[in-house]
Amino acid sequence: MALTGDLAAAYSATGGAWQQGPGRIYDRLAQVLVAGSPVPLEGARVLDVGAGTGAATRAVLAAGAGAVVAVDAAFGMLAHHAADRPPAAAGDAVALPFADDAFDAAVAAFSLNHLPGPAAGLREMARVTRRGGALLVASYAADDAHPVKAAVEAALSARGWTPDPWYVTMRAGATAGLATMEHGNAAAAAAGLDASVEVVHVPFPDLDAHDLVEWRLGLAQHAPFVARLPPAERDALAADAVRRLGDRPPPLIRSILVVTAVSP
Ligand SMILES: C[S@@+](CC[C@H](N)C(=O)[O-])C[C@H]1O[C@@H](n2cnc3c(N)ncnc32)[C@H](O)[C@@H]1O
Repeated sequence: MALTGDLAAAYSATGGAWQQGPGRIYDRLAQVLVAGSPVPLEGARVLDVGAGTGAATRAVLAAGAGAVVAVDAAFGMLAHHAADRPPAAAGDAVALPFADDAFDAAVAAFSLNHLPGPAAGLREMARVTRRGGALLVASYAADDAHPVKAAVEAALSARGWTPDPWYVTMRAGATAGLATMEHGNAAAAAAGLDASVEVVHVPFPDLDAHDLVEWRLGLAQHAPFVARLPPAERDALAADAVRRLGDRPPPLIRSILVVTAVSP
């Protein structure tokens, strides 16, 4: 429970930094997830689980959803541009503060992978979604790799950054969580769902070395540390990470696990 609190605190302290760096990547990944819905979303009332700064919210609205409600453990993520976003509630994906069958669909973009057991989150999504509604989940696939990850961690470590326990626990859990077809099928079966599970590759050919570094610096495991640096040191950190990565890094191709089902 303490780790969940630490995780939520880190995301809360990340807030707007997310949208400045990671946001452009996650907005596109959410569009890919929503495009795979097994049920049309026109007019649907949708729950966005682990909504963060609203990537999946925007994607489902663009797909024609009639209304969205966001829920997230981190108030600071929901607070980002809150006035321009649909209603939101602070809450845990494993105990959603909503009645059975309250929604026509539920989407969880890169949030259930934070749970020790993603099946519990899937089960909750199915409980609050009426029979026949869409359940859409995305997570990081096991082969989701790029050299910018090590370059940024090295630049951060050189300035005293060490990973928080919540992040160490989550990263270790990824090997047993929601990163492979087997994980996805097992989680869906444990939640009583007949799901489609696939690995999808999403290219980002437009991102240069600077963009890639900003993606990493805006993640919750890094952003609170970065926010405490004076502006000149923050700039030096980014420049150091770009130097370590090199001017012409390989293009980013994200590898994501997509789990979709119709609520039983
Ligand atoms: C990687 S971010 C993704 C945010 C957003 N869905 C997107 O695609 O940009 C993960 C989000 O899940 C939230 N989260 C993690 N564990 C959660 C939990 N147990 N219950 C609710 N939200 C959770 C975090 O606070 C964070 O906002």
